[in-house]
Amino acid sequence: MSDSHQPSLSRRSFIGSAAAMAASAALPETGVAQNGGAARTRQYNLRAAVGEQQVLPRPAKPLSVWSYNGSAPGPVLRATQGERLRIAFENALKESSTVHWHGVRLPHAMDGVAYLTQSPVKPGEKFVYEFEAIDAGTFWYHPHQRSYEQVDRGLYGALIINEKNPPRVDRELVWVIDDWRVTREGAFSEDFNNLMDASHGGRLGNYVTVNGSGETPVKVRSNERIRLRLINAANARIFSLDFAGLSPWLIALDGQPVKPHRLDGEPLVLGPSMRADIMLDMTGKPGSRTAVIDRNNPRNPFRVADLVYDASPLRDAPPDWPMDLPPNPLQEPDIASAQRHTVQFTGGMMAGMAARRMGVDIGGMGMGGGMMGMMRQGKIWFVNGVAELAHNPQPFLNLALGKSHVIELVNATAWHHPIHLHGHSFRVITRNGKPTRFREWQDSVLMAPLERVEIAMIADNPGKWMFHCHILEHQASGMMGVVNVA
Ligand code: C2O
Ligand code: CU
Repeated sequence: MSDSHQPSLSRRSFIGSAAAMAASAALPETGVAQNGGAARTRQYNLRAAVGEQQVLPRPAKPLSVWSYNGSAPGPVLRATQGERLRIAFENALKESSTVHWHGVRLPHAMDGVAYLTQSPVKPGEKFVYEFEAIDAGTFWYHPHQRSYEQVDRGLYGALIINEKNPPRVDRELVWVIDDWRVTREGAFSEDFNNLMDASHGGRLGNYVTVNGSGETPVKVRSNERIRLRLINAANARIFSLDFAGLSPWLIALDGQPVKPHRLDGEPLVLGPSMRADIMLDMTGKPGSRTAVIDRNNPRNPFRVADLVYDASPLRDAPPDWPMDLPPNPLQEPDIASAQRHTVQFTGGMMAGMAARRMGVDIGGMGMGGGMMGMMRQGKIWFVNGVAELAHNPQPFLNLALGKSHVIELVNATAWHHPIHLHGHSFRVITRNGKPTRFREWQDSVLMAPLERVEIAMIADNPGKWMFHCHILEHQASGMMGVVNVA
């Protein structure tokens, strides 16, 4: 239990001077600003390659990761709302890849989905992504090609679009959270996308990191206000974060502002791919130390990050600065006149029981024979009865462009699923028939087993958009489809 066992590398990367930490902790930031034309363009280079990273503490060996610009997570890419981003992607992997800008409302051709919006970027090839940052918020990027392995090996990073006038804070931190599945010898567990994971809750890791390291003392000062941007980059793990005595304010979900409200003892639940912005007033005593704990599995809580207070407070009481975020330019759906659609999810372990409970007919599939046959073909999860494995499938849902739509999502399975739609943000308006309190704008909605959720939006971005579970093993075993907005 001596501090000397903490690797000096991660200590250095997290405990810096206040100035060095002002923008973001531990994450490399790159980017060359350029003036040209009306909107300023931010230019970045992203290079995907195999590398090594000390993910586990020494004496474990470095992990052989796949990463952008030599680190997992990759660089924090930033722009201010209204600016353009131009990202030159170079693929130095031994297989094809793409970069998808998760949650960003952008033109279809820039969405980075292999085969659907572009040809896969082959080894040695480049692709330039360019789009306007129309929404401020916390987004992220990752491949959309064999994601269950490419993302899991470390290909992901934060994309932050700053508000023109952000609310005042003392500091901003970005935490990209992930879990890794490692063997006893401390190497990558190479059992990607196996039937067991795919038919259950996906690939859960056994070592959790924040910004690529598991030894994460974060130095704070009493009564400072931190805006914390959280990104769940894990393939399958749902985090339920407990901020140990602090009372965070939730100000944004999936990049979109939400009416600021205290979590009041409730954990912050983030399914895979989801983001949250919270305001943390560091109300602990100078010199004390506390921990952020994941309690998703109550029998197995674990520490995600340590918060270590400096001996001298920053001020005597937390600030009372306003924390509302300016709204993004989202079109409000008209619920009364909206066109209605239903999407049913079935499959996975205990498929028959779950479907019966939800009154959904899945034929003989839950009863053994049919299901086993499907599973042998890698078809485990179904969206409106289809386990989609094609790269460029026929759309299963057509949404009239420019119209309001309400989509009822029925989780007739025994598992959680974070369901993600590309190219749009939607309001989550009801859960199990009850109106939601905050009508959150999201791009991924986490559904509990047997839950019914209604989402609403104006389909204002034309194209064939991916719609899938962001548990990446579920996506790869059928839980995806294409929504055509036209
Ligand atoms: Cu985060 Cu379809 O992606
Ligand atoms: Cu799923």
